[in-house]
Amino acid sequence: MIRTVILGTGAAVPKKVLTNQDLESMVETSDEWIATRTGIKSRYIAEDGETTSTLAAEAARRALEMAGVKPEEVDMIVLGTTSPDMIMPNTGALVQKHLGAVNASAFDIYAACSGFVYALTIADKFVKESPEKKILAIGSELLSSITDWQDRNTCVLFGDAAGAVLVSGSTDGDRGILSTHLYSDGCLWELLYIPGGGCIYPPSAEMAEKRDYCIRMHGNEVYKHAVRSLTDVAWEAIRTNNLKPEDVDLFIPHQANIRIMKKVAERLEIQEDRVYMNIERYGNTSSASIPVALDEANRSGRLKQGDLVLLDAFGGGFTWGAVMIRW
Ligand code: COA
Repeated sequence: MIRTVILGTGAAVPKKVLTNQDLESMVETSDEWIATRTGIKSRYIAEDGETTSTLAAEAARRALEMAGVKPEEVDMIVLGTTSPDMIMPNTGALVQKHLGAVNASAFDIYAACSGFVYALTIADKFVKESPEKKILAIGSELLSSITDWQDRNTCVLFGDAAGAVLVSGSTDGDRGILSTHLYSDGCLWELLYIPGGGCIYPPSAEMAEKRDYCIRMHGNEVYKHAVRSLTDVAWEAIRTNNLKPEDVDLFIPHQANIRIMKKVAERLEIQEDRVYMNIERYGNTSSASIPVALDEANRSGRLKQGDLVLLDAFGGGFTWGAVMIRW
């Protein structure tokens, strides 16, 4: 049976680190509040020259290097983002240019924090159709560019990063993507959204002054929906594969809030030592959070061949989804 396998992983972050202490001098907050309510201690923030596409290209280069694959061998780039370099061209096309991936088609997936799980699912479908294809699935964000740095309800949460995987087809036993599960509910869009910058409310001086190009969120409501949806779709992935929660060797939920991750793990009855949590150092990096965690787990030797890995995402839209992988 042909399955989609991950040949290489990579991640990249900006140079600058912004700590909770730094934020204390920007808005009325405290390290204690942020750490206890979210689990975040610091995050990376881009400076001049660092963009969603440059971080994505760096993460992709590392994934290609690990796989021993040249940029010109890449057939497709699928990039999840909510903070593209520009509205047009798509950021995947810019990554193609940076890499010199001259034979690759490229496009973006716009599914907020679920962007990487959506991108990986699409890559999986293309590989199943043409197993020889080599596809980069990427999640990359410069959330700092759409964060309201005067709003303490949101600015303490987000960070910038990129993560990438290179996938292709394999007949190597049971290894590879076992199942993918995607959902959305557009009726709940007003709980997490960016009001300005689109055709409903185009860019204007007024929009800029009100910082309406930034993320707006009803945190408490998002929290409840995130816990429920992440739990439900993870259960679906476990049951679809006739598995039990204790079979999962590594659970990688979207890194939005340490309390959300712990609550979901508790409901799934997955022990905490099997839950990958790195939010302390990155904050919420939206579509980048899962591939960055996957790359860390891979490079640190936490993942062994044959391990069951469960990816679980939730974000604006709402969108959510899961991917079950035999490593
Ligand atoms: N520093 C200090 N106090 C803050 C603060 C900050 N950065 N942000 C909010 N507060 C205050 C609030 O104003 C409120 O004060 P009040 O009681 O006087 O009104 C108090 O802290 C509690 O706020 P609340 O919103 O109830 O806190 P919470 O425990 O729900 O935590 C979030 C807030 C945002 C951390 C939490 O709701 C969350 O993580 N939600 C999900 C967010 C998310 O995952 N988004 C992305 C999805 S992909």
